[in-house]
Amino acid sequence: MTTVGVRKDYETRPGGVVAGRISVPGDKSISHRSVLLSGLATGRSVVTGFLPSEDCLASMAAMRALGVSIEQRNATEVLVQGVGLHGLRAAAHALDMGNAGTAMRLFTGLLAAQGFDSELIGDASLMKRPMERVAKPLRAMGADVRTTAAGTPPVRVHGGRALHGIEYAMPVASAQVKSAILIAGLYADSVTTVVSPAISRDHSERMLASFGVRVDVAGLRVSVHPPVALQGQHVHVPGDFSSAAFFIVAGLLAAGPEGLVIENVGLNPSRDGLLAILRSMGARIEVHAARQSGAEPVADLRVFRSGLRGVAVPPESVPLAIDELPVLFVAACCAEGETVVTGAEELRVKESDRIAAMAAGFAQLGIAHSVLPDGIRIQGRAEGPVFTGGTVDSCGDHRVAMSFAVASLRAAGPIRIEDVANVATSFPGFVDLARNVGLAVHET
Ligand code: S3P
Repeated sequence: MTTVGVRKDYETRPGGVVAGRISVPGDKSISHRSVLLSGLATGRSVVTGFLPSEDCLASMAAMRALGVSIEQRNATEVLVQGVGLHGLRAAAHALDMGNAGTAMRLFTGLLAAQGFDSELIGDASLMKRPMERVAKPLRAMGADVRTTAAGTPPVRVHGGRALHGIEYAMPVASAQVKSAILIAGLYADSVTTVVSPAISRDHSERMLASFGVRVDVAGLRVSVHPPVALQGQHVHVPGDFSSAAFFIVAGLLAAGPEGLVIENVGLNPSRDGLLAILRSMGARIEVHAARQSGAEPVADLRVFRSGLRGVAVPPESVPLAIDELPVLFVAACCAEGETVVTGAEELRVKESDRIAAMAAGFAQLGIAHSVLPDGIRIQGRAEGPVFTGGTVDSCGDHRVAMSFAVASLRAAGPIRIEDVANVATSFPGFVDLARNVGLAVHET
């Protein structure tokens, strides 16, 4: 699925002012869920605002391989002819999830409940990521799910097992694990409950409810109640807060006097922890026209150039900002004093070890920092160029690549960012949008 073998780098020129009014592509998490749940519904669903990125196209291809008819009317509008909860059929081949951890984990939950066998594979990064975190609770439900001795893919699922409802206390706050269990729970013989140690994104709960599933949420406990029948829906996918995050930080570092406006951004409270962290650092971010878009809250943001100061990020806010931490680290480099992030060990098992990847880049760019087992300590500077310029390796990680592109706004010299093809997994069109608002980045 991914652009294997196509090597791309970014070159950036230092400095610049960002301005304008933009919108970012659709939410990745919600787009994955939209094709998966639409495929299980009775009748037709229309998804608007779909993210046509490599990751979400992997989910779409998997649903097609399982027998669901999906028409992409244009890049962002998708028509899904649902086959009903029991209408999937065996894929003729292993399902290749590319770089998409979300797709592999959610589909493991789905396939554990089917009457046929399946195999899930992915790219070199995904083949190293932990899958026992989903396999274990699914086995407790009665499923037959196998991983390698290291707990990694390929994930082999032997179907035809009757699933039982369980109550599962998740050891880490993971929306992917929670969602995989809830999806399997649609097929169980009784209620399935997941208890989280902290808040994680609740897109699955919201979307399941909008498809007509009874979902009970009480604090950190969420339950699904079978038997269920999902009804085809119109799913509105809002702009991805995690993609907006790069432009939020760009605006804070280098916006002109009118600020930078980002329209139609998903502001789900289980996802927007970055805003509170940045505000505690002195950021001026205005929220306008807060409204509901289908099951999700959205708003327009106006971001002003702001003098930032370092903070100790409360560990409990980490799961609410997990995908935004790489670009938060860039903001911390440009904040006066020390920023400390702890409780973020999950960053080590994302598309790359994001603590190591960001720290290696900071070492190349003259940033004083120290790496912690579960986070990082950064000595920032609010005035003048902060990064020296130099060459950094994104480690094939989209969020690392885009974070260093934002850093160029406060660099003294050009930054070359290597191995950036994976930006297409979450943010097609990033370079064009970044250039439109004033970032001097181009692809080589
Ligand atoms: C996601 C959940 C998060 C996040 C990932 C997408 C999802 O991971 O990092 O990019 O769509 O459910 P966790 O499962 O660790 O919460």
